[in-house]
Amino acid sequence: MKKRFLDPVFSSVLKKHELADFDSLWLHEGRLVEEGNVKHKSGHSHVVRLKLEDSTKTWTVYMKRQENYITTKSRIMVRPRAICAREFSNINTWRKLGIPTMQALYFEQRDNTKKNPLRAILITKGLVGYLPLDEWLAKTPDRKLRAQAFLKTAQALRRIHNHSWLHHCLFPKHIFIREKDGQLTIKLIDLEKAKKCIVTKRRVINELTAFIRRCEWRNKTEMLQFMKYYCGVKTLGPEHRRMLKRIYARMQYKKDKHR
Ligand SMILES: Nc1ncnc2c1ncn2[C@@H]1O[C@H](COP(=O)(O)OP(=O)(O)O)[C@@H](O)[C@H]1O
Ligand SMILES: [Mg+2]
Repeated sequence: MKKRFLDPVFSSVLKKHELADFDSLWLHEGRLVEEGNVKHKSGHSHVVRLKLEDSTKTWTVYMKRQENYITTKSRIMVRPRAICAREFSNINTWRKLGIPTMQALYFEQRDNTKKNPLRAILITKGLVGYLPLDEWLAKTPDRKLRAQAFLKTAQALRRIHNHSWLHHCLFPKHIFIREKDGQLTIKLIDLEKAKKCIVTKRRVINELTAFIRRCEWRNKTEMLQFMKYYCGVKTLGPEHRRMLKRIYARMQYKKDKHR
């Protein structure tokens, strides 16, 4: 696994701000995007937004910093791996597969030593001009535009699943969308949990349910249209209806569980 990566163009921006080394980035303050996540007793992860001036433009970037925030699988390994190390690798794989996602600008992991905990930093290029899908849907009543957004989302999802991957945290807030001259572009973010695996029907149902239950649908027709896009059909056949039934059942199960 690569322990350090720095985009050559971004390198000069970091240098200009005296941030071109791990320690400076680790200590740099920034605007916290969300409450930090605590993984277990000693591990934590947070994301800050930075605005860095260049001679020609302002770079908006997102920096994820993690300490002892390691993958479950690597906990028993001699050299454990930060969760954002997996995210960095996933971003690169997805881009190669043509799955729309962010661009990584910097990644570095510092292994734990007797004195220091394991630390890692991942910087991605900010999706400027994009909105999380939930926020975008809340302010977009236009039926045709919404249909386009669901089509793009369904197509990206199909691509992920056809390549034997799952996102594993497919919430509308992790789908970013931009509208330009009536055309929509989407990008998927937060690939920490994304995984290549055998994509069984059960797993697809779980992934689709995660998305469907958190979406603000205008009505049932809109949701059914999304399913048709995902299944690549004009009319849902018996097989698709069985799938939908399982999604409804899982949604009900989740609702009861969280009541
Ligand atoms: N490249 C990016 N462009 C725009 N927003 C981003 C980007 N990376 C992260 N964010 C914002 O930061 C939030 C937290 O990042 P995320 O990767 O989801 O971290 P976590 O693993 O803590 O959930 C996201 O929900 C999103 O709002
Ligand atoms: Mg997240």
